[in-house]
Amino acid sequence: MTTHSPAVTRALAEVDEDTFVRRPDGNLVSQSSSQPIIANLIDRLNVQPGMKVLEIGTGSGYSTALLAHLAADGGHVVSVDVVAELVDRARQLLTAHGHSNTTLLHGDGIQGAPGHGPFDRVIAWTTAPHLPAAWTTQLSPDGAIVAPLTAAPISKSGLGAHIRLGSDASPVADQLFAAGFVELSGVAVDQWLVPPYGIDVLRHDDKHRPWWLSGEWIRSPRHYLDGRYVLDALIQSHDHIPGPLQPDESAADWRAWLLATRPAGLTTAALGEPLWRIGHTHQTGAALTDARTATQTVITSANADAEVLTDWADAWRAAGRPGLTDLVPHLEAFHDGWVLRTTAPR
Ligand SMILES: C[S@@+](CC[C@H](N)C(=O)[O-])C[C@H]1O[C@@H](n2cnc3c(N)ncnc32)[C@H](O)[C@@H]1O
Repeated sequence: MTTHSPAVTRALAEVDEDTFVRRPDGNLVSQSSSQPIIANLIDRLNVQPGMKVLEIGTGSGYSTALLAHLAADGGHVVSVDVVAELVDRARQLLTAHGHSNTTLLHGDGIQGAPGHGPFDRVIAWTTAPHLPAAWTTQLSPDGAIVAPLTAAPISKSGLGAHIRLGSDASPVADQLFAAGFVELSGVAVDQWLVPPYGIDVLRHDDKHRPWWLSGEWIRSPRHYLDGRYVLDALIQSHDHIPGPLQPDESAADWRAWLLATRPAGLTTAALGEPLWRIGHTHQTGAALTDARTATQTVITSANADAEVLTDWADAWRAAGRPGLTDLVPHLEAFHDGWVLRTTAPR
């Protein structure tokens, strides 16, 4: 069992999860994260009584209530969500259950909460394509941010990062952790099968199910039609073969290493199903393995791409099977913020 700080353990015991994550008919609010995931990130945030906290992604309001409990005795939580109905619902519940130290805002959290800072802590529950400048300018000098950020120029490459400000006020990422949240979207979305940013080719099959690819090579206008060709070939015909990893190997570690090393042809995809995949594509074929275990691969009929995945797995084994905690995070300046990238140990 995971242990949490005494303050987080107390907050988990005192805030009733169902009050926030269940609708009156008993159904779950679809934008709720699971309690262990919320507790893990909140533990990393280290909220102390009296702190001012900015939350991006109110969702059910459960995490807002936990943060309000932790910051109580003088602290305050400002929480932003892009879905107006969720903001109204959470505001009512928080007020009804005595969390008066909260302010709920409807808007695009990429702007933070202008006029409400500075904040001692910022936490996001939605994967941003980069660390927005607004989150760092609204942070107090000794503050900290916990956020899932896209860690490679492909979809579904989100990693959690703990960030603080360096001596020159630019952000420094000092910890990485697994964090698979929905992507940040400037408008309310009602489906999660097609990410709102980062995909390069999207097609629908005859059952209207979405298939997409995200890969750097496909992004070149010269290759857009090649990407479409590969996706159409997969829709028309594909085979299933065993994946490159053994069941006792960590697909999360292999994936993290792939995001750091970014071998040519690295692609993420969804093939008409909620499960998403990672693998190799090129002009005439694809081998895409399930991201969770990397033990079931889909290939376009008769192609050699599966060998590329085996080579990538062998290279990872030869490097000592490095995992997420071995990677070194960097934040690289971007026009309105910073992009998270990682490097693998040599
Ligand atoms: C995983 S859910 C949040 C879970 C929530 N913390 C809870 O305890 O239930 C992610 C939330 O981020 C919100 N979101 C997505 N893009 C956003 C944006 N640009 N600004 C603010 N919120 C956003 C979604 O509407 C969704 O409610």
